[in-house]
Amino acid sequence: MLNELRKIQKKHGYVSEDSIKKLSKKTGIPVSIIYGVTTFYAKLHTKPTGKYIIEICDSPSCYLNGSLDIIKYLERKLDIKSGQTTQDKKFSLFIDSCIGCCDEAPAMLINGKPYTKLTKEKIDKILKKCKS
Ligand code: FES
Repeated sequence: MLNELRKIQKKHGYVSEDSIKKLSKKTGIPVSIIYGVTTFYAKLHTKPTGKYIIEICDSPSCYLNGSLDIIKYLERKLDIKSGQTTQDKKFSLFIDSCIGCCDEAPAMLINGKPYTKLTKEKIDKILKKCKS
């Protein structure tokens, strides 16, 4: 099921309610189960996302190195809460668990590319580059 959901997301950018219903019909798996799986995994999205998908880690190593401040800073800079997309559809912000960069915490991914040892200054530079 995960492979199918990933394929759908890759094709459409997210897994819509319609896609879930179609997958349910195709596989015989109840919609509720597919929806449950889709919403369980942070990397699967049930709503359209922005051009840049920011996934910031809040697992222990990042948390202890200030990820909470970075999350709040990103939310303020983007004027959204985690789980939301900016009005211009440029950025979506998600909180994720460990992304495997614990030794360089705090860390985040943007469209799968890691950014580490995050500071507010570094965030400013990254966002500026994405906006240009
Ligand atoms: S704890 Fe954040 S990358 Fe591992």
